[in-house]
Amino acid sequence: MKNPYIPELAVIEETRVEAPGVKTFKLKLRHGGMFTFTPGQFIELSVFGYGEAPFSVSSSPLQKDFFEVTVRKTGMLTSALFELERGNTVGVRGPFGNGWPIEKMKKYSILMIGGGIGIAPLKPVIEYVVANRKDYEEVILLYGAKTPKDIVFKKELEIWREKIDVHLTVDIGDNSWKGRTGVVTILFDEIKVDPKETYSIQCGPPIMMYFVTKKLLELGFPEDRILLSLERLMKCGMGFCGHCMISGKFVCKDGPVFSYSQIKDFLESAI
Ligand SMILES: Cc1cc2nc3c(=O)[nH]c(=O)nc-3n(C[C@H](O)[C@H](O)[C@H](O)COP(=O)(O)OP(=O)(O)OC[C@H]3O[C@@H](n4cnc5c(N)ncnc54)[C@H](O)[C@@H]3O)c2cc1C
Ligand code: FES
Repeated sequence: MKNPYIPELAVIEETRVEAPGVKTFKLKLRHGGMFTFTPGQFIELSVFGYGEAPFSVSSSPLQKDFFEVTVRKTGMLTSALFELERGNTVGVRGPFGNGWPIEKMKKYSILMIGGGIGIAPLKPVIEYVVANRKDYEEVILLYGAKTPKDIVFKKELEIWREKIDVHLTVDIGDNSWKGRTGVVTILFDEIKVDPKETYSIQCGPPIMMYFVTKKLLELGFPEDRILLSLERLMKCGMGFCGHCMISGKFVCKDGPVFSYSQIKDFLESAI
């Protein structure tokens, strides 16, 4: 049996700058095998000599001969990763975690809310929904970034607009910005949703998820259809080491996607 702690080798095929301090890395397994995953799952990526860290897969699940991660440079490992170029090799374990319930959400509307780099785990579900548009009712994306420059997936957002309803805001605008300014929850006044027929899925900074969840509850969303993708410091990624545990749940294995009903008793410490 394959040792799940030993990473597979993957070659960087392309790197793209998405925003200041944010890059997408296109990866291909070196042995040439396919990479299949569920939107919302993550991989453990190792930069040799620096260690390993979890990153959400940000490419379309329909694309199996390569996969992508979109990374914000924060510390040692991500800085080392940013030095790598096309042709360099990294280690990959996974995919891990549960992901978004793309099958269960069929025939429902979906309200997606992303903040900053939190749009990375939403991107595969957006790509999937856009490709299978008839399977879903109304689909709305609310996305907030710090400044216009910090908006990631700018090109994709324009393509998605043709199939789903996209609303953007930034915390601080500039001369070129004609859109909304303010936190992502201000975008709720631009949309109409039927909470009884809608799944809400969100990922972003803890403060965003706290206020978005509060808003969704006020609107009457059922607790089991408010879904949040959580981040925790991780090691094994497989439910063995206990590093990511919170109130008896493994964020790596039982999550990273949890419903509000699963985490409401410890929401503030979970996000
Ligand atoms: C399931 C999951 C999915 C993730 N997906 C992405 C993604 O798609 N793109 C992305 O850019 N990042 C993602 N992250 C966060 C990413 O793993 C960390 O940014 C990375 O480990 C930082 O490594 P570093 O050595 O560069 O920074 P470090 O030197 O380890 O840390 C730099 C700073 O970031 C903080 N930090 C480190 N890890 C985390 C974490 N897991 N959660 C919150 N803060 C952290 C540290 O406390 C410190 O303040 C994800 C994390 C998890 C758990
Ligand atoms: S990271 Fe080891 S149990 Fe979750």
